[in-house]
Parts: sequence; C-alpha cells; structure tokens
Amino acid sequence: MKGGTIYRLRGNKLSFILVVLICTTIVLWAWEKTPLVTSLLPAQDQFVMPYSEYPVDSHMKPSQVINPTGHFEENFSDAIATGKTRNEPLVQDYSPKKRNEPLVQDYSHKKRNEPLVQDFSVTPISSATTNSTKNIENIRDLATSSAETKVCNYAKGSWVVDKRRPLYSGFGCKQWLSGMWACRLTRRIDFSYEGFRWQPENCEMPEFEGSAFLRRMQDKTLAFVGDSLGRQQFQSFMCMVTGGKESPEVQDVGWEYGLVKARGAIRPDGWAYRFPSTNTTILYYWSASLCDLEPLNVTDPGTYYAMHLDRPVAFLRRYLDRFNVLVLNTGHHWNRGKLRANRWVMYVNGMPNNDRKRAEIWNAKNFAVYSIIKWVNSQLPKHPQLKAFFRTISPRHFRNGDWNTGGNCDNTTPLTGGSIVSQDEPSDPVVADAAKGTGVKILDITPLSELRDEGHISRYSNKAMDGVNDCLHWCLPGIPDTWNEILAAQV
Ligand SMILES: *[C@@H]1O[C@H](CO)[C@@H](O)[C@H](O)[C@H]1NC(C)=O
Ligand SMILES: *[C@@H]1O[C@H](CO)[C@@H](O)[C@H](O)[C@H]1NC(C)=O
Repeated sequence: MKGGTIYRLRGNKLSFILVVLICTTIVLWAWEKTPLVTSLLPAQDQFVMPYSEYPVDSHMKPSQVINPTGHFEENFSDAIATGKTRNEPLVQDYSPKKRNEPLVQDYSHKKRNEPLVQDFSVTPISSATTNSTKNIENIRDLATSSAETKVCNYAKGSWVVDKRRPLYSGFGCKQWLSGMWACRLTRRIDFSYEGFRWQPENCEMPEFEGSAFLRRMQDKTLAFVGDSLGRQQFQSFMCMVTGGKESPEVQDVGWEYGLVKARGAIRPDGWAYRFPSTNTTILYYWSASLCDLEPLNVTDPGTYYAMHLDRPVAFLRRYLDRFNVLVLNTGHHWNRGKLRANRWVMYVNGMPNNDRKRAEIWNAKNFAVYSIIKWVNSQLPKHPQLKAFFRTISPRHFRNGDWNTGGNCDNTTPLTGGSIVSQDEPSDPVVADAAKGTGVKILDITPLSELRDEGHISRYSNKAMDGVNDCLHWCLPGIPDTWNEILAAQV
C-alpha cells in the first residue's frame, strides 16, 4: 500500500517525504534513548546463563558434564565393527561387507504421482513474535497473519541467498558436530551451499534465535528419534541453539535416559544435553526403523532380533511422557541388505510375519510408519504437552551409480534443478495418509532438500574409502539446519 503511493510520487514530493522519514527516524531514535519511552518498550533480551544456579546432580560424573569430542568419532571401520556387534547402531551406510548386497532404493519418485486426498500438515501460523520491532518484514507478516487465518505449508517456497547464513560456523561447534559431517574441516573448497535460507511461500518464518528458542522451551524436552539423518538434525540443532559456540555449562544428561555407552560399545545409543539456564533438554536416540527390537535368544551373542513392525521402539514407550517435542524419522535402513546384516526378522502381532505381501520391504516400512504414527496419536490424550512430528525422508543424490557402484554427487553449483517448490501435495503420500486425522504433524523436508544435491558430504568424507561418495548425509552447517528452522517455527 505504502510502496504503491511512493511509486506514484515524483521529484519534490518524494524528497519531501524522504526528509520527513529521516526526521521521524531521528526523533524515534532520540525517544528510544529517553527513560520514559524505554520503560514502555518491551524488555530487552534477558537471557543470561547463570549455570552455577542449576544444581549439578551428584550422580553425574565429571566426564558426563560435557561431552568429549571423542564421543562423536565415527568412521567407516565403525560400520564394519557394528556389523559384528549387532546391538550397536549402524550409523554408517558404507560397510564393505555390504557392498555386494542389493540395495533397495528408499525414495521412490513414482510415489509422488499417486493421487492424493489429503489435507496436508497444515499448521496455524503462530501469532507470537515477541521481537516484532526487529524488522519491517516481521511487522508486515504479523499484520498479514492476524488479518488472515491462513494455514501454512512450510514445504512450499523457495531457496534464497541470505547473508545471515549459515547460523553457525563449520569450524566451530566442536562440542556437538561430528568431524565427518563438518565439511569445513575437509578438503572441500566450495561452501556456497551454506549461504541459503528457505523462504516458505505464505508463512511467517521468524529468524531462528537460540536463546529465544530456549526460553520458549523452558523446562521442556525436544527429542529426535531416528536414523543417522535424525542424528544430523540433532547435531544441527545443538549447533543452532548455541550458535556453534563452546558451551561448557551444557550438561550431559544421557544417563537420565539410559544413554550411556555399554561395555565394548563404540558409542551410546543416543545423547541428551541440558541447558541449565532454561532447563531445556535436547536429545537424540538412535532407532533406524522406529520398530521395537527384541533379541530372540538373549544368551546367544549372534542372536536374531524380532523387529516388531507394529510396536514402537521401547525407548519411545518408556520416555514419551518426558517429551514436549518429538521428531521421528525412518527410511534409509529399509532394505533387505540392512535387515539381513542386522539380523532383524519381521514380526507382527508378536508373531513372525507370514504375510508375504507385507514382507516386501516397502509394504513393511509403510506398515511400520502407520503403526508408529497411530501409536503416537493414541498417546496424545495422555500427554497433552506433546507435539509430535514425523519428518519425511531425506533424499539421496547418487548420480551415475549408487553408493557402492561409483555413484557421485559432484555438482557444486547450487540450485541447478531450480530453487522453488510449488507443489501443494505432500511428498510422501504414505506418511501423509498415516498422519491424516491424527495429531501428528508432518515435517515435509523432502522436496526442498531434493533441490540441494550440492549440499552432501560428497567425496570429501575425511575417512571415506576410495571411490565411495556420501550423497546421503549432508554437510553441516547445511540443509538439516533448514529442517530445524521449519521445526522451530512450528514449536
Ligand atoms: C526441569 O524441568 C522438568 C520438567 O521437564 C521439571 O520436572 C524439573 O523440576 C525442572 N527442574 C528445575 C530445576 O526447574
Ligand atoms: C540360545 O543360545 C544359546 C547359546 O548360543 C544356545 O546354547 C541355546 O540353545 C539357544 N536357545 C535356543 C532356544 O535356541
């Protein structure tokens, strides 16, 4: 409205308005400096870190207060080792043992064209932006959102260059960021992928601010449960919240969730950290399939496991009541090779699955996704504090082969496939259908991540074997930061 008026003015009128604007700015600035006016303004950021205030639990060993960087050491030989110690999470996808196994592709483009009868993960625009004076865009967005009761599809929008990206330095965040995902620490020389922000088409998307997020999450717990891509999202979140800065006050509270390294294990099944200033806990639990896994013979170290397609992983059942925000994901581990390597045997209804149709990997995965979403939804009345999200699959970008047949993702030019997602339909009809009518929201990051093939680790994995590219995991800072921005906008 105002912009239109200005365009219609010319010459003297325009300069007159400019003078008036400058004067107004000066007057406003002067007012803001006076005590009378400042007392009427919203309080400044009161966020401080009085970490000595928070009693450190006496059970906590000094080594548990902060995570040693070594915790995150992880390499391809781990993957080999994890093949032997089956209780261990298989975080890596690249075990030489598995090279010859047929890999079933997880991310089916075919599915995208299926007919959809869906009102997809529509989320009311959050009305609260306390720091509305920050920029004019926010004010405009607030005006828009109060005028319209429009719902937002965060999956639809475009990638834009933004000088305020990345949200933390890839040289920093050593406390949380695995070396293998910190592309700044590798021989890679192009980092243009760090400089983009996701702009949803019709949504207010407040700039992410760690301290503001922590205050919103006072006394609350954010939990990521899923595979290694979920772990990337978790590390990304830790880096975003701290701005990648060394944060010695953050406490390792893994033991509260049974997340301690077992004897002989390479790493625990997850990590939990608490920000004492706001009593906010952020945790990650490794569960590749989200299914409950039960050893079939506890005394046999080489036991097979019942993989209960219709029963959520025990960790979720045990700790769900402590979570305020839950982000689930699964996908890349649903292939024959991984099931066989892990000795997982499909179970339904407490019995070995005899339904041959369901035994097909895609059907089994879909059945498990349905089961977990239905179960979480059934728990919501008991846990009204809980906001649950199911994150859609993170796309792979192997070209000219797969991970074990020389596939690569060498492109370093951003957005060669375009920068816009304009589809209204959810990217994963199965997840959408499962979530339909439930209280579980979809975090649909697939299409926007699909456009970012240049953001993978690629051939720069610091411990990669020759000729093996990682076109599955992402460089951090990078694409998973955006998933978290979209998550934070809805929390
Ligand atoms: C921290 O938050 C939890 C709930 O998540 C609460 O039970 C506990 O009392 C809080 N601790 C402090 C010191 O406020
Ligand atoms: C379980 O494993 C142990 C050790 O391998 C073996 O001796 C035992 O017979 C197994 N039990 C069953 C029921 O298969």
